[in-house]
Amino acid sequence: MKLPDGPRTPAFVQLIQVLFRPLEFLEENAKRYGDCFTSRITGFPPLIVVSHPQALQQIMTADSKLFESGPANKIFHFIVGDDSLLLLDGDRHQRKRRLLTPPFHGERMRTYGKLICDITEKVTDNWTIGKSFIARSALQEISLRVILRAVFGVDEGERFEELRQLFSQMLDNFDSPVKSGFLFLKTLQKDLGPWSPWGSFVRQRERIDELIYAEIQERRQQSDTSGEDILSLMMSACDEAGRSMTDRELRDELITLLLAGHETTASALAWALYWIHKLPTVCDKLLKELENISDDTDPSEIARLPYLTAVCQETLRIYPIALFTFSRILKAPFQLMGYDFEPGTYLSPCIYLTHQREDIYPEPKQFKPERFLERQFSPYEYMPFGGGNRRCLGMAFAQFEMKLVLATILTRWQLDLADHRPVRAVRRGLATTPGGGVSMVVTGKKVKAPNLVSC
Ligand code: HEM
Repeated sequence: MKLPDGPRTPAFVQLIQVLFRPLEFLEENAKRYGDCFTSRITGFPPLIVVSHPQALQQIMTADSKLFESGPANKIFHFIVGDDSLLLLDGDRHQRKRRLLTPPFHGERMRTYGKLICDITEKVTDNWTIGKSFIARSALQEISLRVILRAVFGVDEGERFEELRQLFSQMLDNFDSPVKSGFLFLKTLQKDLGPWSPWGSFVRQRERIDELIYAEIQERRQQSDTSGEDILSLMMSACDEAGRSMTDRELRDELITLLLAGHETTASALAWALYWIHKLPTVCDKLLKELENISDDTDPSEIARLPYLTAVCQETLRIYPIALFTFSRILKAPFQLMGYDFEPGTYLSPCIYLTHQREDIYPEPKQFKPERFLERQFSPYEYMPFGGGNRRCLGMAFAQFEMKLVLATILTRWQLDLADHRPVRAVRRGLATTPGGGVSMVVTGKKVKAPNLVSC
């Protein structure tokens, strides 16, 4: 089978580029080889990088039985375990999605609106005028508290305090391109004692597991699974044979949701605060729109504000947190962009390159929320949450949360960037994030009814 052309550099060099200069690597190759090229990275089969909307449509709308993603997601196994829906395909995957989708959508999702605003207020309450802070860390505390509440129904008490701290520390193990190498190279995944990078990660993960199993045990003893939280929901669910989920299955799914559900949102929010304070016209327009909201405004109304929505959409366009969707591994022959691909081929829809296409987004490097007010993009032109049968389970929830957190912060605080130099997108684990986390300074506190303050 002839694969599309692609960079000829050794696989190890491509891995280094993917770790240290992921955006440049993708752009250089798209320029040279076009909308479909083959990348070879140490530890992975050849990846067919695809960024043409028509091809993406073909992949996302094809019969889902033609593909699987579980084997490609083995890269997450070290943390989410065998039973996570990330590693499942077919009926088991669909069943898990059917169970976990409702709490993150519609009415159930909207019940979290007030909670998201309250958590944001609480976490930002200790900000002091004149003090600087790292946006991503503060936002991560907010998004972690929010997802803990959604998943467990609580985010306070000794157990959850420890869980929050351990989760943040554990993810900081992969907070740079060098440390992200541990995820890509299995040979580095060696426990050489508590002070070694992998050893420290393993111990943190073990302690997290202990805390989660302790919570599951307590709930089982209470034998009351009537709560609205996702753990209660999973504990009361049965498969078609009448079997309920084992402790191990519960643990794997809880970790999956905690992991997928907060780092991504925190990075997206940090980018949003960066762009809003980098570009005074964006800030002024947004504050003008937010002038009309008060403490009594229904969160759903805030989530419908058009400019706020466009700012969030453009934030996820210009630097999507996930550069790729999960790989789609072919289970049958498939024709795409003039190639005949064989079963076993890894197709990798590239969100970043699609979002950087000049033919869809003129001046793609410019942050312009207006583009989302002027035209509608198809789900194959704009796909920060992926698509098809693996589309992000938290897509609606993450967008809802982003808007409420931003509105709560911007109507209460005046902020500025501590450093006005451009921020680079860098790798953090498998995601991209603003380099340095966006250093900001608190310049003022707004009293009750927010006035329009120019940035
Ligand atoms: C800005 C925030 C987020 C971004 C950019 C994001 C992005 C993504 C992407 C690109 C995928 C892969 C989709 C595909 O392959 O087609 C995904 C999958 C997933 N996301 Fe998110 N996500 C975000 C927030 C969340 C939240 C808040 C949750 C939790 C509720 C979540 C849970 C999941 C899960 C469980 C999957 C796996 C779905 C499956 O395998 O069927 N994500 N996400």
